Amino acid sequence: MSEEKTQFKIGVPKETYASENRVALVPDAVATLIKDGHSVAIESGAGLKAGHADTAYLAVSATVVSSREEVFNNNDVILQVRAYGTNVEAGKGDISKYRPGQIVIGHFDPLSNPALVEEVAVTSASVFAMELVPRTTRAQSMDALSSMATVAGYQAVLLAASACPKMFPLLMTAAGTVAPAHVFVVGAGVAGLQAIATAKRLGAIVHAYDVRPAVKEQVESLGGKFVELDLTTEDSETSGGYAKAAGEDFYRKQREMMSAVIKESDVVITTAAVPGRKAPILVTKEMVEGMNTGSVVLDLAAERGGNCELTVPGETVYHEGRKILGPVNLPSTIPYHASQMYARNLVNLLKHIARTGGMNPDRTDDIIAGTLLTFDGKIVCEQLLEIMNKNKEQA
Ligand code: NAI
Repeated sequence: MSEEKTQFKIGVPKETYASENRVALVPDAVATLIKDGHSVAIESGAGLKAGHADTAYLAVSATVVSSREEVFNNNDVILQVRAYGTNVEAGKGDISKYRPGQIVIGHFDPLSNPALVEEVAVTSASVFAMELVPRTTRAQSMDALSSMATVAGYQAVLLAASACPKMFPLLMTAAGTVAPAHVFVVGAGVAGLQAIATAKRLGAIVHAYDVRPAVKEQVESLGGKFVELDLTTEDSETSGGYAKAAGEDFYRKQREMMSAVIKESDVVITTAAVPGRKAPILVTKEMVEGMNTGSVVLDLAAERGGNCELTVPGETVYHEGRKILGPVNLPSTIPYHASQMYARNLVNLLKHIARTGGMNPDRTDDIIAGTLLTFDGKIVCEQLLEIMNKNKEQA
């Protein structure tokens, strides 16, 4: 591979999704890219909701431009938080601005929306999806899903704590002792582990369960207590470290076994996800009714259908004195740090693309092959093509 470095003309348009507060590049990240020899143009006001005024970008030698057209027309790499697939209504107008060979990087949710990928393929732009960065050691610094799940896990606990009628810590006061709250985290992946750490810092007693036995040690290292359930889970992990889907019989047994822990919990935070599948129902209506009045379920899997039977994505459901929160797009509610982390992931991916072919990315590289959706007018992502073929067979 040639060591000659690609110098990109990078453009960052304003995010147009209604509740999106993040920005793809923060000034620190711009400084890094400019130091590496790239140029960066930002649409005026793009960083404002994340805490960065135009002047902060100008101070690190970015160009600030007034129109979206300028961003798309004058740059060969476009960086977004939400590319078309995750911003269908407001983002549709962007597709006509894509140019052949132009690199567009952002969240796209391609596996849920293959038809939208077909729409962008015809532009001959090279579109990368940040959700598809492989969870491998080599790609860790580019893994935006993990970064955003970290933010979501933290914020989930703060929201649940605010919704809970109890305080989290043990307090010994002149007015007597206040017992600590009990928090149960179901699914100890990236979001779950951050939720455990955050609830512990607030002083709650934290229990956690995951089908992957390997995470027991991580839960305990954060001060959580791992709940042992008499379920066979040895075969529950893929080689990529994700959970495999289990059958309904398994989930029924799991629900039965978790009932007692859930009953004793003031707050249940569910994060159980199986990649490419609808989230499994792990907390039923009856289980919620078994909790004390005032208890809270916060369902981080709301966007994927929810782990709780009563969840409504984006809403708080009040059920017989219990609250079920189904927040969506949590990273956008902490836009400063979420943008900082996302921008770092983008910078690392860009460095990688620059090293592996630049505008003509080396598709034999596993990170490029994993994340590149479209190239030269075609869909090139194997994972997506497999799903599209399966969908065709089933139609
Ligand atoms: P992850 O894949 O790192 O973790 C999910 C965990 O759930 C894994 O450890 C897996 O083993 C576990 N799991 C799967 N099935 C289970 C079961 N039956 N019982 C117990 N554990 C089970 O995923 P990550 O990145 O932590 O995300 C977690 C969830 O949070 C996902 O649904 C994701 O979409 C969601 N999320 C939601 C956000 C929001 O704003 N609402 C923002 C970011 C992530």
